[in-house]
Amino acid sequence: VLRSARPLQLTLAMLKPDAVAHPLVLEAVHETILNNKFLIVRTKELMWRREDSQRFYQEHSGRFFYQRLVEFMASGPMRAYILAHEDAVACWRSLVGPTKVYRARNTAPDSIRGAYGLTDTRNTTHGSDSVASARREIAFFFPEFSESLWYQQDEPRLR
Ligand code: PPS
Repeated sequence: VLRSARPLQLTLAMLKPDAVAHPLVLEAVHETILNNKFLIVRTKELMWRREDSQRFYQEHSGRFFYQRLVEFMASGPMRAYILAHEDAVACWRSLVGPTKVYRARNTAPDSIRGAYGLTDTRNTTHGSDSVASARREIAFFFPEFSESLWYQQDEPRLR
């Protein structure tokens, strides 16, 4: 049974194909998750079809990088996680670092993207940007997952 002094929040984290293809990066990011005391609620490796990638990134469909992003995200296996932590959404985003790799390297060299990001497309990881996005993205990857059931079974306090 999980016991937490502080309310837990859930977020969706993704290790993108560039990270999963590189064993040392995969291991380093996994260590970051554990060292920062996230609970790994669910995880799975999967590969998207193009349609999955298009659907997930729908909100960016008008952007110049949309096709590039969609192709890359369907180009190889990735790993998805439901992570629990106090302020999980903000906490994971802060560990991931800025989207643009030049900015990540310059302003947050110890962040995951600062350390391992290759380009603005191959930027290693994804994290939900709000609690609402986390709900949507968790349901996208883990449609069978029930937040309320998890809460009842494991007794952490969610907010
Ligand atoms: S922005 O510009 O602030 O809207 O960007 P952001 O919301 O942080 O990024 C949304 C996702 O698009 C990816 N992205 C890019 N891919 C390819 N090329 C370029 N130039 C580019 N800019 C942003 C970025 O990695 C985000 O993907 P996720 O998976 O959400 O991190």
